[in-house]
Amino acid sequence: MRALKQKNDIIEVISGYVSLDRKGNTHWACCPFHHEKTPSFAVNEAEQFYHCFGCGVSGDVVRFVQEIESTDFMGAVRILAARAKMPVPESNFDTEQAALLKKKRDALASIMLDSARFYLSNLYSGDRQAEPHLQYIANRKMSPTTVKKFGLGASLDFFSLPEYLQDKGYHRQDLLDSGVVTESKNGKLVDGQAGRLIFPIINAFDEVVAFGGRLLEKSDFAKYKNTKETLLFNKSKTLYNINLLKKLKREQPIKEVIIVEGYMDTISLYQAGFKNVVASMGTSLTKEQARLVKRYSENVLISYDGDFAGQKADLRGLEILNDEHLNVRVVPMPDGLDPDDVVKQGAAEYQKCLDAAMPLVDYKIHALERKYNLSKTEEKRRFVAEAVKIVSEEESEAVKEELTRKLSKKTGITFQALERDMRNVPKEKTAEMILPKEKLAETAAGADKQKKAIRFILAAKLFSAEYAKDYDVSGLTLADETHNTVREYILERERASERIRPSELFELLPENDNELNEILDLNYGDKLTGEKAERFFKDSAKTLERDALNAKMTALNSEFNRTQDEATRKEIAKQINEIIKQLNALKRK
Ligand code: UTP
Ligand code: MN
Repeated sequence: MRALKQKNDIIEVISGYVSLDRKGNTHWACCPFHHEKTPSFAVNEAEQFYHCFGCGVSGDVVRFVQEIESTDFMGAVRILAARAKMPVPESNFDTEQAALLKKKRDALASIMLDSARFYLSNLYSGDRQAEPHLQYIANRKMSPTTVKKFGLGASLDFFSLPEYLQDKGYHRQDLLDSGVVTESKNGKLVDGQAGRLIFPIINAFDEVVAFGGRLLEKSDFAKYKNTKETLLFNKSKTLYNINLLKKLKREQPIKEVIIVEGYMDTISLYQAGFKNVVASMGTSLTKEQARLVKRYSENVLISYDGDFAGQKADLRGLEILNDEHLNVRVVPMPDGLDPDDVVKQGAAEYQKCLDAAMPLVDYKIHALERKYNLSKTEEKRRFVAEAVKIVSEEESEAVKEELTRKLSKKTGITFQALERDMRNVPKEKTAEMILPKEKLAETAAGADKQKKAIRFILAAKLFSAEYAKDYDVSGLTLADETHNTVREYILERERASERIRPSELFELLPENDNELNEILDLNYGDKLTGEKAERFFKDSAKTLERDALNAKMTALNSEFNRTQDEATRKEIAKQINEIIKQLNALKRK
């Protein structure tokens, strides 16, 4: 890990993505993680650390690559290793466990690749059992070139794949963990995609990570079935066809990325010449997927089914794209048709839809309009009420005005009346609107972790665990009254060099104090003793220290943004650098 970082100087790596401007010890750039016109993204050469004063992101070179390449820790390590022309470090922090993990990952990747090859060879084996698959491919008008390009394959039965893989010497457990096979009731391994047409899902590093399988005929079973989530496959971080999109980008800049829902939509569009397409595979978009797309283009066209009528769940996915500062437009589709259906009528037909793409807010109104019959007074009223609400949520005054004008024209209601209605829409800014959902969940999870850490530390002190002896609780930032009381008690006993007797707490706190009982409960069983407890204690202390430093950094960050005074800014920057040093030191601990 150390060698990897030494060979990948943060200044050099970041320069590969944004142009840096050196001022003293710090290099500046416009932040690649949020939209801005004046540079507030600072890279510190001595500390090998970056920090954005605009959006608050920070980290080391691995973290940077992780974020900008939308990949995980090991993905970033692989990229950096390739960049420095050195072998991929066997582990993240040189632990045995990480080496095992890598071995496992490699085994699964190999199983996936062999399975993909097996399915592929089935398709053109001349086996009669593959006839329905070939017939299906022909019916859906996929050319042989397309079939090859997407590596489609055929599963012919339950047992030939597992037998083939076992003959190759793969371990049973690895086969099960790869998701390609499952165990039947009598313990035999079976192909999870038996009989289906196979769509390999390939990541940006050209690894087969999963399969989508389609039934060839209508039945009660799910039309499509995906490999379960595995070490290789995380559905919410994956986009179908991202591998070919990456290749496309090497050939030409990508003006915009079309996001569709399905495998077939992707393939049909690609075949018709719309190669800039990926699929979300049927679910609402996630933040990780948004970031993944952003690596290829800032502009996104959402091309979902015609009956995608702006349902709340779907819209949430689109808001996520907005949150990641992508330019989103929605492609209107004829009712009940998906991109695959439309492009079958000719590329020009689909191009017409693309040309009619509109910003999200316009699309919301467009979708509403289809829901109501505007020639009926009652329906028109409901349409106006809902449309006014949508417009009022828009941030830009200019856009608001333009939309109101359009709405006025559409409904015959005067501009002034609509505007008055708009002002009367109650502003319900809940925390949910200010913070995106994941952020809320993140904060909640973080708070939960903090609470657990504090409880554990207090309990270890209360019950005089050996490993907690030298820990000083006075530095803890505590928000909870009970925690505060417990701490005061501990400190008071320590100052007096007296024994700590947890039962004395009942004189300070009511016996039914929930939080107190949570802490005291930790003494049951062997939760506080042994190596595991000691490790948890140390991790908890570290977590709390890190959280406190991060909180300080966030506070300094907003202070930095509030002031325009150069001298103050410099002073704050210095303090932030100090915190970064402490955070780094903490990491090395
Ligand atoms: P659709 O049902 O719209 O599929 O689901 P489609 O691609 O138009 O299917 P065809 O044209 O009938 O073949 C869109 C996508 O949602 C995922 C798949 O990725 C599919 O392509 N999906 C759908 C599933 O994963 N499971 C399902 O049961 C259905
Ligand atoms: Mn379809």
